[in-house]
Amino acid sequence: MKNLIDILDLSTEEIEQLIDTANDIIENPENYREKCRYKKLATLFFEPSTRTRLSFEAAMMELGGNVLGFSEANSSSSAKGESVSDTIAVVGGYADIIAMRHPKEGAPLVASMKSDVPIINAGDGGHNHPTQTLTDLLTIKREMGRLDNLTVGLCGDLKFGRTVHSLIAALSRYSGIKFILISPKELELPSYVKDAHIKANGIPYEQTTSLDDAMSKLDILYMTRVQRERFFNEEDYLRLKDSYILTPEKLKNAKENMIVMHPLPRVNEISTAVDSDKRASYFRQAKYGKFIRMALILKLLEVE
Ligand code: NCD
Repeated sequence: MKNLIDILDLSTEEIEQLIDTANDIIENPENYREKCRYKKLATLFFEPSTRTRLSFEAAMMELGGNVLGFSEANSSSSAKGESVSDTIAVVGGYADIIAMRHPKEGAPLVASMKSDVPIINAGDGGHNHPTQTLTDLLTIKREMGRLDNLTVGLCGDLKFGRTVHSLIAALSRYSGIKFILISPKELELPSYVKDAHIKANGIPYEQTTSLDDAMSKLDILYMTRVQRERFFNEEDYLRLKDSYILTPEKLKNAKENMIVMHPLPRVNEISTAVDSDKRASYFRQAKYGKFIRMALILKLLEVE
């Protein structure tokens, strides 16, 4: 495997290996400090990011490599009208591996066809976000001890939330998974995601608008931000943005060992009063993102 464009580019065995490597990095970071010496990672971010870009950069630094790149389209030649393909062809001459985020669905796939160096999709529009999913799977494995036999509630913007699409694709390959899809009607999971993963794998699922009704059944509650930047008009966003707000009160009905996840950034959808609950996993989740990205860089660069 040369690129990571879609989470299904990885087999479940490869995902297990990445999780094992990430866990070993967490235990023995000193063994990895020189692994990518003299290697360079380029982060090409045509869309805003905090965690994804910085965790990629920190990952490469902790492997002993270097990083270069840009964090907004306006500061790159795309502002002059350069195509993604041309940018990639050029950056491939400077870097050994490229992580790219772009507002257009499919842009990293196009880039990978042009590139001589590995391309990692760091989020493409409302489509996919495979490295967030690797982060999520590492988190689930560490917090729950397994990736199968889980009832997973996905709540919020299931229409535009790319992290949700990739996570559903990934989890649909494990046994004993059940999804509860919790969203306003307007932000339901797109049927192409439902058909390709949930239905194709015969995964049981429920669809509801009520977080309260679902709460007591869940092993994992995956909250998401309403994706303002993908809305066609501001009124719809304002009407839907506070559809779900998780509070300590609402968590009273949840299982003792449920975990609350969120890819972050959070806006209003989880009250800060929830942060001190031991079930709140989202800041640990963000931290795990660096370790799984270290594992991914090692794999794509074929470092032993
Ligand atoms: C997510 C994204 O960019 O899709 N953030 C992230 O990478 N952790 C989620 C979001 O922006 O809401």
